[in-house]
Amino acid sequence: MRTEQSKTIYLKDYQAPDYLIDETHLTFELFEDHTLVHAQLVMRRNPALSADLPALTLDGQQLELLELKLDDRELTAADYTLTDSHLTLQPTQASFVIDSSVRIHPESNTALEGLYKSSGMFCTQCEAEGFRKITYYLDRPDVMSKFTTTLSAEQHSYPVLLSNGNPIASGSEEGGRHWATWEDPFMKPAYLFALVAGDLWCVEDKFTTLSSRDVTLRIYVEPENIDKVQHAMDSLKKSMKWDEEVYGREYDLDIFMIVAVNDFNMGAMENKGLNIFNSSCVLARAETATDAAHQRVEAVVAHEYFHNWSGNRVTCRDWFQLSLKEGFTVFRDAEFSADMNSRTVKRIEDVAYLRTHQFAEDAGPMAHPVRPDAYMEISNFYTLTIYEKGSEVLRMIHTLLGNEAFRKGSDLYFERHDGQAVTCDDFVKAMEDASGIDLTQFKRWYTQAGTPRLAVSETFDAVAKTYTLNFTQSCPATPGQSDKLPFVIPVELGLLDARGNDLPLRLQGEAAASGTSRVLSVTEAQQSFTFVDIAEQPLPSLLRGFSAPVKLSFPYDRDQLMFLMQHDSDGFNRWEAGQQLSVQVLQELIGQHQRGEQLVLDQRLVTALRTLLQDESLDQAMVAEMLSLPGEAYLTEISEVADVDAIHNAREFARQQLAEALFEPLWQRYQANRELSRNTAYVAEAEHFARRSLQNIALSYLMLTGKPQVLAATLEQYEACDNMTERLTALAVLVGSKFEVERGKALEAFAEHFKDNALVMDQWFSVQAASTLPDGLARVRVLMEHPAFTLKNPNKVRALIGAFAGQNLVNFHAADGSGYRFLADQVIVLNALNPQIASRLLAPLTRWRKYGSERQALMKAELERILASGELSADVYEVVSKSLA
Ligand code: PHE
Ligand code: ZN
Repeated sequence: MRTEQSKTIYLKDYQAPDYLIDETHLTFELFEDHTLVHAQLVMRRNPALSADLPALTLDGQQLELLELKLDDRELTAADYTLTDSHLTLQPTQASFVIDSSVRIHPESNTALEGLYKSSGMFCTQCEAEGFRKITYYLDRPDVMSKFTTTLSAEQHSYPVLLSNGNPIASGSEEGGRHWATWEDPFMKPAYLFALVAGDLWCVEDKFTTLSSRDVTLRIYVEPENIDKVQHAMDSLKKSMKWDEEVYGREYDLDIFMIVAVNDFNMGAMENKGLNIFNSSCVLARAETATDAAHQRVEAVVAHEYFHNWSGNRVTCRDWFQLSLKEGFTVFRDAEFSADMNSRTVKRIEDVAYLRTHQFAEDAGPMAHPVRPDAYMEISNFYTLTIYEKGSEVLRMIHTLLGNEAFRKGSDLYFERHDGQAVTCDDFVKAMEDASGIDLTQFKRWYTQAGTPRLAVSETFDAVAKTYTLNFTQSCPATPGQSDKLPFVIPVELGLLDARGNDLPLRLQGEAAASGTSRVLSVTEAQQSFTFVDIAEQPLPSLLRGFSAPVKLSFPYDRDQLMFLMQHDSDGFNRWEAGQQLSVQVLQELIGQHQRGEQLVLDQRLVTALRTLLQDESLDQAMVAEMLSLPGEAYLTEISEVADVDAIHNAREFARQQLAEALFEPLWQRYQANRELSRNTAYVAEAEHFARRSLQNIALSYLMLTGKPQVLAATLEQYEACDNMTERLTALAVLVGSKFEVERGKALEAFAEHFKDNALVMDQWFSVQAASTLPDGLARVRVLMEHPAFTLKNPNKVRALIGAFAGQNLVNFHAADGSGYRFLADQVIVLNALNPQIASRLLAPLTRWRKYGSERQALMKAELERILASGELSADVYEVVSKSLA
């Protein structure tokens, strides 16, 4: 709860720590109804500061102080000051030791921050500021310490006792208890601390590093999940190898452990040597996890592993620098996934996600720069901007420097700052020093919020044979930032001739052409580039690979977009041309719907998609991506005022028309791919993902026709398939269909079969929560009463309530405001149980400015009701108050 009236913390107020903690010795005595934590902190005055001895203020929350000593001297209440968030005392020498004992209650910790219990095991989550709920400490990332941890627990229920680093001693005690001591040789901030105690099994493997050191790899799970770990283990080994090959980074301890827990606020956590994962990001096998889940496991395992260097060996000075580790690590994991699977498809998925969700965040009341300069609750800043836009910023640096200089820069960064807590400026400086490229102006990407607009126009001079592209950039105002300075925008582009070939590119003033795809840096508010030797009017292919996170506009007509769809040498831009064509067609339908006219689909979209479907030489995953129309959330984001019903109706109308017009080619490709799936055992590899993705999107279109042979095919796939990707798609297709009886039967059979698998049940909840059939809210309310549902488990909350509010837009935005009221009710309950989840869940309401005045009023009223509902956590208070400001 808000203790010190929701103070805002500012980057400009940063001060180095007064004291350092050289060593941290922790002892945990874990019991069923409480835990005792003893901490011995070996401390000294920060030598970089003056020699006087200011008061020492330790962070601590929800701790019951039992004992406190300074250099072996027992302190009494007169010797220190205690508030509900701090403990202050006066050191008398430059070097000293503090011993404290506190009692905490992991067994009743529902916020899942600090030490808590999940499915009977003890585990921790300390990032960002959870360690202060474990013991009194300097809980800030620039205080790094060497940790030794002893934990003791009842042996039968908690046979496995883990912490960071290497195991150095263990033993048993009388009364059926046992203990273990772990020592982490690397200095680390408290947010990377972890412990686990539970009844866990593990799969063990080994990795030999570049310099021939053997590392033991262990993945711990609940015994019933031991058959779902191999994919994560394979992913870990691939990640370790990739980081050696691509970044020259080797693992540094003798053991690397991952533990899967069922109750976790986020995806996973990179604690040194002991990563703790949401089980949804570890467990995967064909029968229970979809292709998307397999890819997510691979990506998250890689992400957390990569943090060992980008995050742990080099960490953040303060939490304003969060993107230093997160943006960089997302960029690293995205490149890893691109190398393991299809590069173009990975880029398409990431860009679609960024443009739908991060762009919306950047246009809303919580918009903030990649390096924010103020926050109330840091947990609210684990955002799409810090992660995904932060990764785009790194990608742009990579684009501007080129691969070789970028690698030199990262080598220099790791070498210069190993063992330090640093800033985004330090990172950029290393990139500049290694490359000789000045990034001063580029750094505006770190300090200015909002999504830049880049408007492009062309002029062709047939006589002079010159072709000029004129760029105009601007950036809308965001909270606290009304005027923006020009960004450095790397625009990769090519020029296509009438046959669709890339022209050689020579800019005015250059001696010769170089390349057919080039990166131009747009650095001014208005800037033109002239290409010479251009004999005929070309068609530009702009922002290839989405080389900058901007909203680019160029006045393409639909025929030009169809041409680019077929001919652009850049795969990403072929997809992008298809998206732009679809957007134009859908916006036309939206207009027709709003004017009460009959909807008429532009047949060029049908033609374009038919061409794709008939070309068997194309990558099937690409065809699947290109068949997917822009989502309702994306259409909302690009609308001036989002008309929920018009968007939904227009898109559904287009899907229906496409399904009917393209029935034959869709049916043919569906059957061919299903046939292959039937005859091939499941493999979690790109080529197989591709085949199934085309098969499944084809099926979802086909079902819109309601033909009996499609129903039969769906039921066949549902019953006979050997994997969750095909089964869940068949289920989702039935759930969205008019076949009520079959739908009911399939849902029931699915739940019966998978009732003991929580992660599969999450999928079952999501499929129903996302169904746009009428009465969605009533169905969600019924599902909340299902025995497998609980508000205490974040995965369940996301699967049911999150999916309803985030994916079922027509039902969530019901004109009577019932969806808003429902969401606010859940936020109010969760505020007390789990503030982080409450505050994340509330995001859809914060977007009220996007909608028409009736919906605006209804959404605002719910935000106001939350604000007035009683004592709010800092998490919820910050988001609600900023949304209403
Ligand atoms: N640092 C984690 C990651 O991105 C995310 C996380 C943040 C997890 C805060 C838990 C709490 O890898
Ligand atoms: Zn991360």
